[in-house]
Amino acid sequence: MQAPLPPVPVPPPRPLPLWQVLRVARGNTLAVIPQGAFVEPVFAQRSPLGPSFLVSAAEGVKHVLLDAADNYPKAAIQSRLFEAFLGEGVLTSEGEVWRRHRRLMAPAFDPHSVQAAVPTITATAREVIGTWRPGQVIDVSEAMGDLTLKIIARAMFSAAGDDLGPVMERTLRSAEAVLERFGLADFTPGLRGLRARDRERRIAALFTVFDAWIARLIAERRAARGDGDLLDRLIAARDPETGRGLSDREVRDQFVTIFIAGHETTAVALTWTWYLLALHPQVEARLHAALDASPDAPPTYARQVIEEAMRLFPPVPRIPLRQARAEDEICGVRIPKGALVCVAPWVVHRHRDHWDDPERFDPDRFAGERPARYAYLPFGAGPRVCIGASLAMTEAVEVLCEIARRYRLKLVDPGEVGMKPRMTLRPVGRIGMELVAREP
Ligand code: HEM
Repeated sequence: MQAPLPPVPVPPPRPLPLWQVLRVARGNTLAVIPQGAFVEPVFAQRSPLGPSFLVSAAEGVKHVLLDAADNYPKAAIQSRLFEAFLGEGVLTSEGEVWRRHRRLMAPAFDPHSVQAAVPTITATAREVIGTWRPGQVIDVSEAMGDLTLKIIARAMFSAAGDDLGPVMERTLRSAEAVLERFGLADFTPGLRGLRARDRERRIAALFTVFDAWIARLIAERRAARGDGDLLDRLIAARDPETGRGLSDREVRDQFVTIFIAGHETTAVALTWTWYLLALHPQVEARLHAALDASPDAPPTYARQVIEEAMRLFPPVPRIPLRQARAEDEICGVRIPKGALVCVAPWVVHRHRDHWDDPERFDPDRFAGERPARYAYLPFGAGPRVCIGASLAMTEAVEVLCEIARRYRLKLVDPGEVGMKPRMTLRPVGRIGMELVAREP
């Protein structure tokens, strides 16, 4: 069996004691997952938050995300954190409110809308690549972040996007820093509520400038009744069942949600794809050959490369936590009422039951027959599956092809690459890559 590629941590042979879990998780939350989790169907975890289970068997994953989805709403402890800045958007809401939001947003992500976004994606990629020079060393993580930020901001706000994108990004980074200040008090009954309210106040203050800006923009767009970008579509959307649209506050909440869910994830997918390509010259050479043979459209192999990169480095390593409403049983394991249940693509995608030689990077796994539905789920599954999955795949493939047609990205110092998983599988520090021009 192949050892994991750096910077993937080697799983500890046995579960770590709780005090060590907290210490190790501060560096890398995935480094605490023991070997047993990669072979067992349901794995009981040590957690300061009470009983907690990692579910990886296909039938168990299907049960939690699809068949018994009503028994496994998103865990309040996690959703509350995001509500401070996402309000009641489609990512944080539940029940009827969520169903209404999802219906209203669906048309903005249908195949027609995704195709309509392609010219923005390719034009933005070409514009950014046009500023690059052969021999230049870029931080690929930063470069992919800047590019996907530009793309989502333009797709959402058209011309206003270039100004609003960076404001949004700065606001989000500061909000994240507030969220990350977690300590013992957050697990202490009595203090927990005070801490949460303090966090919400700070986050609301950070969003003042952005919220004023977006309120102005929404008012202008309502008056203009356009049908150009995603903002126009959200404003114009009407619920097919009730005929009702979204209020200004709801448009704002959906907006921030899409922004958060839809830009860093794709950047992370692309970043790890470049990293893996640089470490696997045969795969890189095959991608180049496929691109040369298909000058006008992305070749199938480009999609396979992205899919395999997202298997090994799933941009969302853990699907948002679920919490059992009522006692249940998954694959013969009793799940008490209130237990936290996690489906982690990070584990499912490397699980011995689902994959041969899981550490090997091999895009041919995605040639021909698809892997089993519940063995591969970078976008989740069931009713809450990522609404932007098709947009994200299209964007990642287009960007990969635009860049790979012109440049090879050579890793300058593999030893420097690290990861700091949070909600996304973000790399830490710089991933320096040299732009090597490809022969025309
Ligand atoms: C490679 C890129 C992406 C990955 C890997 C990804 C992954 C995910 C995952 C794992 C979930 C959670 C599913 C669950 O809770 O069961 C999710 C939800 C969501 N994603 Fe994505 N996503 C990506 C890109 C995008 C894009 C581009 C958008 C929008 C522009 C987007 C919008 C959303 C929204 C709104 C939700 C919440 C859906 C709901 O709860 O109904 N995502 N995504």
